[in-house]
Amino acid sequence: MKQPTPLADALLAYEEKNVVPFDVPGHKRGKGCEKLNAIFGERLGSLDVNSMKCLDYVNHPVSVIKESENLLAELYGSKEAFFLVNGTTSGVQAMILSVCQPGEKIIMPRNAHKSAMNGLILSGAIPLYIAPDYDEEMGISLNITLEQIREIVEMEGGIKAVFLINPTYFGIASELKAIVDYCHERDIVVLVDEAHGAHLNFSDELPMSAMAAGADMSAISLHKTGGSMTQSSALLFNSNLIHHDAVRQAINLTQTTSASYILMTSLDLARAELAENGKEHFERMLDLSRWARTEINKIDGLYAYGEEKLNGKSFYAFDETKLVINPSGLHMSGFELYECLRDTYKIQMELGEIFTVLAIISLGDTKENLQKLIDALKDISENNPCRFLSGTCEEIPMFGEQILSPRDAFYAKKEVVLLDESIGRIAGESIMIYPPGIPILALGEVITKEVIDYICYIKKKEVSFASSYDETLESIKVVTTKKYVEKLR
Ligand SMILES: Cc1ncc(COP(=O)(O)O)c(C=O)c1O
Repeated sequence: MKQPTPLADALLAYEEKNVVPFDVPGHKRGKGCEKLNAIFGERLGSLDVNSMKCLDYVNHPVSVIKESENLLAELYGSKEAFFLVNGTTSGVQAMILSVCQPGEKIIMPRNAHKSAMNGLILSGAIPLYIAPDYDEEMGISLNITLEQIREIVEMEGGIKAVFLINPTYFGIASELKAIVDYCHERDIVVLVDEAHGAHLNFSDELPMSAMAAGADMSAISLHKTGGSMTQSSALLFNSNLIHHDAVRQAINLTQTTSASYILMTSLDLARAELAENGKEHFERMLDLSRWARTEINKIDGLYAYGEEKLNGKSFYAFDETKLVINPSGLHMSGFELYECLRDTYKIQMELGEIFTVLAIISLGDTKENLQKLIDALKDISENNPCRFLSGTCEEIPMFGEQILSPRDAFYAKKEVVLLDESIGRIAGESIMIYPPGIPILALGEVITKEVIDYICYIKKKEVSFASSYDETLESIKVVTTKKYVEKLR
């Protein structure tokens, strides 16, 4: 059935009126910047308008944005939905800010994205990290389990929230429903990062979505797998434990007052497309991914895991639209395969890590494109044109003890020391490669030799480290505030 698109309709109706603009944006429907028009075409400028009564306001929507948000909520089975124009990052942070006051405890997987870690700085919440199991064969972290959560809840008490990733970048999902039920019996709020799960709603063969499991909130990257434009995401709200006003307030703390109508309209249109054809799209995506996985597993030296990895706990469910390929059998690292595919075959993967490369299969993918990937992988396996043969490092290090809250570490005094000299001290910055944006070293953790060795190994791969103080990563910031340093003794 054809779906309504209230925001897109309002925007087109406004464009039609040919109103004389004495408001911002200052390019005045593109006329002020020929260079914009030359690349993007006049249409983009004419649709890039500011908030006004007939187009509604993102910070307190009452008409067309609200209608479109309501349609999104209906599609995902939530009570409310909030549009976001600063990616899922702002949704993750708004979820944490609206639930946790400074000093309140939140359980979180240690392989959470930096947006969640930064949410801890903003809110002052205290993370109780869980180290997920590690799959040696694939070289990836799995997800956290109900047992691990239960253990912390029973040991610590006073837990405000549990933060989950559904699924991880590598498609691995936890036993979400059981975790939600367990937490709700104890009035613990469940927040879900669904940056990689905006499509879960559209097939019973995908892991259960956060809203279907009854979670309180979920931040979904519609721009990643839902078809909308980069940066456009949504926060889904379904809580009986938290008031929606707290969520609105938290969103408005950081969300712009000049949200892009191009981005918001893309949410309106992507939602309509998903409502009309989402099930067919993702059935096709699943068929394509399964076929590609089977073909890749016929190639010497490569392994793309599938449902054979399910273990009922830390790998409870698998999102098969994530095609994760391990090239260790070719004596290549994932970084090298990633580079080789891009530079030699013009194939851009989502990410390369030590042991894996990842392809995300989504709405716009075709069998032809997947065939190109399969052909390139066959060629690499047979001929290794990139001459990479570095092998991989032994293993991923255990992270150090979280001795300071991320917020305390953020505001602490710091000095810069050489990497070797930082061992045994408290991290004054987080170190990560992006993507995936998961800290190798997190703010406030004790720095271990294993972590430094691992950073040195990765440095040799010439990957760029996101947001580290020293771009060359010869040195690192450590905490010097006396009262914190004394905690080390
Ligand atoms: C697991 C996870 N959470 C959150 C985010 C942040 O999403 P966004 O880039 O839309 O801000 C990402 C981005 O890659 C992610 O991988």
